[in-house]
Amino acid sequence: MDRRLRIRARSKLNYIVRLVALASTLLLSACISADSPMNYLHPEGPRAIQADRLWDVTFAIAAVVFVLVEGGLIFILFKYREGRKGGNVDPKQLHGHTKLELLWTAIPAVILTGIAFMTVPVIFDQARTPEDALEVEVIGHQWWWEYKYDNGVVTANELHIPVDQPVRLTLKSGDVIHSYWIPKLAGKQDVVPGRVNHMVIEATEPGTYLGQCAEYCGLSHANMRARAIAHEQADFDAWVQEQLADSANEGSAAEGKELFLTGKFAGDQACVSCHAVKGTEAAGIIGPNLTHLASRDRFAGEMFELNEENLKLWLKDPPERKPGSLMPDLGLTDDQIDDLTAYLLSLE
Ligand code: CUA
Repeated sequence: MDRRLRIRARSKLNYIVRLVALASTLLLSACISADSPMNYLHPEGPRAIQADRLWDVTFAIAAVVFVLVEGGLIFILFKYREGRKGGNVDPKQLHGHTKLELLWTAIPAVILTGIAFMTVPVIFDQARTPEDALEVEVIGHQWWWEYKYDNGVVTANELHIPVDQPVRLTLKSGDVIHSYWIPKLAGKQDVVPGRVNHMVIEATEPGTYLGQCAEYCGLSHANMRARAIAHEQADFDAWVQEQLADSANEGSAAEGKELFLTGKFAGDQACVSCHAVKGTEAAGIIGPNLTHLASRDRFAGEMFELNEENLKLWLKDPPERKPGSLMPDLGLTDDQIDDLTAYLLSLE
């Protein structure tokens, strides 16, 4: 190829590389903007902050190493490129240079030892169970989260916690491998069938912290969301009392209740074979416990906002709304859907 053509082709490639770099920077910056609710680079819980500090230091060291190594590489590539004075000549061979080899073995060893000294205590610290921890069992299901509190509260998807108290989660799976992750509060922890894992999370500010199942677990993995809602202690206690009681309004929608408790639908299926409502005969354990469904913000693994319209659309055909949903299309009539929705919304 003619030299001039070669230079032109090279500058074109250069241009494309720069464009791709710029575009990906813009795209990636969307992932880490400060106000994104699942941004683990802006942690809010003490455990996540502890891990983030390690990340900051490791990243800074890696950035310095990257700039030095890549900078040196690029400098040498340009300085000794073909056609340049002194270029395209075999350089002095350094194979077997003991001093240099000792040096570039020692530098990484020192860096990695330093990182290990910072990291290992944090690993042990995070694995320790704090004495005053609130205990909650978290069970991963395709595709929703079940929470069982020591005090008897059973709920789904929305984990309520008090602020300034560590919460020890005991993680179990009802089917396949999931991973529990509330990025602003703590790192991920796998939820493995036949195994019991633990993690501790903590929030210092009241608020809602979004989460997501972080291990591919089937068709609706992306729809397996979670949220932790942190309350001041008094509000948390009130929430617990409310959850421990039977639903206040349960029974105000009599037709729906009747249908829920005794109805048989497509394939002889009944609501009560899968769902429980405390204070009634419904005691199914396959699907989410619905005792205080109406007190939740969202449903179906946090996929939909909990309101009349969404509940009706859901009951009409769950797998259509949430791919792979284990709740089948029950072939409900519009009247049945209206009655059942009224009952579900009465479960405050
Ligand atoms: Cu559960 Cu992914």
